[in-house]
Amino acid sequence: MINEKVRNIMNEQIKHELESYYVYLSMAAWFHSQDLDGMGHWMRVQAHEETIHAMKFFDHITDRDGTVGLLDLKQEKTAWTSAEEIWKDAYAHEQFITSKIHAIMTVVRKEGDFSAEPMLNWFVNEQIEEELNTQKIWKQCQTMGKTKEGLFMLDRELAARIFPAGSPFDPLAYQQPAGV
Ligand code: FEO
Repeated sequence: MINEKVRNIMNEQIKHELESYYVYLSMAAWFHSQDLDGMGHWMRVQAHEETIHAMKFFDHITDRDGTVGLLDLKQEKTAWTSAEEIWKDAYAHEQFITSKIHAIMTVVRKEGDFSAEPMLNWFVNEQIEEELNTQKIWKQCQTMGKTKEGLFMLDRELAARIFPAGSPFDPLAYQQPAGV
């Protein structure tokens, strides 16, 4: 059975991951409104990934006989003035999420919850990638994104991001029922 302190902080993390979904979906909407559809697509994939993260915590609590209690979501910003500002915010957001994951690890270690560590280690590694991706694009935006041509080139590159394997949006993950 899951320790109550660990359950509470993981339950809180479900909210942060779902708020991340909201943040990235808002960013996608802004990019689409600016005809930066490649960046919009990238953000939609990112938003979807966040729901997978939320569900990892959801399943971990549930699998260990804990009860999830979904919390209210906050959305702090829905408008931006440039693509560069969005990527800067996305990087800052991932740094914030990293701090939350590390805070969970601190509780898990303090409580001696060895069952939670392997799953949390996945998030510790994932956050390295999450920060790297957003920081890299932010930097690219600061250089090649300074001109309209450069920004559209970057936009086209980001259109190539694919949905993660196993996602309901991944056509390869879809198994047609027998006899249909
Ligand atoms: Fe779930 Fe982007 O961290």
